[in-house]
Amino acid sequence: MPTVTLNNGVKMPIEGFGGYQISNRECKQVVLKALETGYRLLDTAQAYQNERAVGEAMIESDVKREDIFLTTKVDFTNSGYEQTKASLYESLEKLQVDYIDLVIMHQAYGDYYGGYRALEEFYREGKIRAIGVSNFFPDRLIDLSTFADTVPMVNQVESHVFYQQPEARKIMKQYGVQMESWGPLAEGKNNFFHHPVLLSIGEKYGKTAAQIGLRFLTQKDIVIIPKSVHAERMQENINIWDFSLTEDEMRELETLDIGKSLFFDHRAPETVEWLMDMYRYRFHK
Ligand SMILES: NC(=O)c1ccc[n+]([C@@H]2O[C@H](COP(=O)([O-])OP(=O)(O)OC[C@H]3O[C@@H](n4cnc5c(N)ncnc54)[C@H](OP(=O)(O)O)[C@@H]3O)[C@@H](O)[C@H]2O)c1
Repeated sequence: MPTVTLNNGVKMPIEGFGGYQISNRECKQVVLKALETGYRLLDTAQAYQNERAVGEAMIESDVKREDIFLTTKVDFTNSGYEQTKASLYESLEKLQVDYIDLVIMHQAYGDYYGGYRALEEFYREGKIRAIGVSNFFPDRLIDLSTFADTVPMVNQVESHVFYQQPEARKIMKQYGVQMESWGPLAEGKNNFFHHPVLLSIGEKYGKTAAQIGLRFLTQKDIVIIPKSVHAERMQENINIWDFSLTEDEMRELETLDIGKSLFFDHRAPETVEWLMDMYRYRFHK
């Protein structure tokens, strides 16, 4: 599996396994299958409520701990220095590991500066090998990269053929932040798996629409973490390393970009209100 090198020299697999929307009940078996299939980057989050199952799968698997690149994310309801620190100890306990490869502030909400300081502290102490952010649009990323002691190593943002974020990518490059795609298959939205352009390019290589969409991102040096609970799809999604898209095909795929999220706009007041309701519910505010 090819790797990318983060701004602190740590190597990260360019493809991994996404752990969102996998229940704690089925998660252990699914992650075991992903490791067996060859995935070495595992992506979870405090918000997914499956860290314990991911940890159990890592223990049960034959794959060595040091061969796995483990990512988790601090939920925004745990932002703030003290709260983030406490949540990191909890994540380490649930994941049953003594270090985490990458920890990310999940959203640019709440006291993410305070939370990020806790990440920096854990990083300096060697409990985390790399730190980063997620859903940080260029304005927030430039701000944090300028004022924090440590430039984030990764920014995980929505990105797929229909929302390619070329401007954000340019700024990440400028600041030395590795772009990582969430939703690389757009969760199937916009007819992803039957899209005529993806299918017709795929036909040439004997590849599926999913494989073309994933390969496209990796050819732009974007880390991808497709999720599937099905063994054959896990295999399909990782089987993208025996062909390359031509420059013309890359250009054709660039035209599929519609320039906006297929999910929601993190900065729209209604989205922020919806997420803040979770915070109010949790803290009875
Ligand atoms: N930082 C963030 O805010 C954020 C937000 C969202 C996601 N993420 C991370 O990014 C990862 C990936 O994103 P995602 O899970 O939202 O979406 P995704 O990987 O784009 O798509 C997953 C969906 O596509 C289906 N699928 C997967 N491979 C397929 C294939 N080859 N053919 C047909 N269907 C296929 C899956 O169904 P089955 O499982 O039924 O196969 C699932 O419904 C997440 O798991 C999570 O780790 C992060």
